[in-house]
Amino acid sequence: MTPGDRPARPRILFVDDEAAILDGYRNVLRADRHRWEQRFAPGGAAALDLLAAAPADVVVSDMRMPGMDGLELLARVQERWPDTTRIVLSGFADLQAASRASAVAHQYLMKPCDPEVLRAVIDRALELRAVLSGEAVRRAVGTIGALPTVPRLYRELSAALADPEVEIRRLARIVEEDVGMATRVLQFVNSAYFGLARRVTSIESAIVYAGVNTLRHLTLTFELARELGGAAGPPAGAEAVERHSILTARIARRIVADPGGAEAAFAAGLLHDAGKLVLASRLPGPFGEAVALAGRGRRQLAECEREILGADHAQVGAYLLGLWGLPRPIVEAVAFHHDEERLASGLLDLPVVIAAANQLAHLAAGEEAATAAAAPDRTAWLDRISADHRTAWTSIAAAEAGSARRQAGEGEGARRAMAGTRP
Ligand SMILES: [Fe+2]
Ligand SMILES: [Fe+2]
Repeated sequence: MTPGDRPARPRILFVDDEAAILDGYRNVLRADRHRWEQRFAPGGAAALDLLAAAPADVVVSDMRMPGMDGLELLARVQERWPDTTRIVLSGFADLQAASRASAVAHQYLMKPCDPEVLRAVIDRALELRAVLSGEAVRRAVGTIGALPTVPRLYRELSAALADPEVEIRRLARIVEEDVGMATRVLQFVNSAYFGLARRVTSIESAIVYAGVNTLRHLTLTFELARELGGAAGPPAGAEAVERHSILTARIARRIVADPGGAEAAFAAGLLHDAGKLVLASRLPGPFGEAVALAGRGRRQLAECEREILGADHAQVGAYLLGLWGLPRPIVEAVAFHHDEERLASGLLDLPVVIAAANQLAHLAAGEEAATAAAAPDRTAWLDRISADHRTAWTSIAAAEAGSARRQAGEGEGARRAMAGTRP
């Protein structure tokens, strides 16, 4: 690159029919002008003209606009510029439309939006684009060779779910064909986590009770560990990652602010450390070095991974799940699960929930001193959240960790009893 050949600034397009609102954006984001090329369009048609002249990295659009509304605009952007990140910023009255917007928007923000939150959301969108474009990850894990392809069950369940009329029977059949997986799923659904009053003995009723998406992400988590292990068995530390991921998922689904988001929170919690499994199985040497370095210096594992590998497990996991076409909010939460700094922004969306749940899971499991991932300031973020959240979340984490320990104890007891009966 020659000195004059600076990389272009990311381009952000704001769309709103009210001139005062566009002026508001211009004012509050004035300080970001040197980082972002900001453009403003008074409506859908004008926005499309600007995009045709020069595509944007991120579009932030109002919903209700005369002529072409936000939904139609974003649907067109999705079709013509699928790589552009699409954010809806709309009034409370349009809350009903939020679910419709989720088909075309990556994120939905409510007006009035705190400038810090808007800035954080745009920054994160840009960072995620960089992670998913895979430059750093590809460079770093060039030695990995072929990444695992989408696990079979997940692929088949997703294909079946594309048909809105699909019957639960058919979904159950797909899981049942894989006997080992069906057994694991049933074991998990019957664990105390689901708190079911009666024992579930079929995959069909497991889908009814747990929800099809929870089932789908559960199989994906188990399949990933199985496939990465291959004939050699699961990679080193896989069991600990799984235990920690399940605890994170359990905490995340309880601290998520929007009850409708519990399923995604659970899935993101389950998958947040998937990158660790990839690194442990494909690059055991350098990954082991990073773990040792983190342990010796009581530093964050992700930081040591970046130092040794050039990318961390959050980026690798998000990259892989992005390739596999997992929902964007889940991929985003995986990418940023070490960014508990963002708790201070007051934003409580999925990435923030997963970042908090991850830390709470480590703390509640009493790993603070022992784990290689322990940073000296591990609890500093707790001071930055509201006192109400702090109290509620730590007690949720303690309760979930307690019941996870009891289940592990029961499982161990049962195994010992079985072993004891053997001749
Ligand atoms: Fe992590
Ligand atoms: Fe984690």
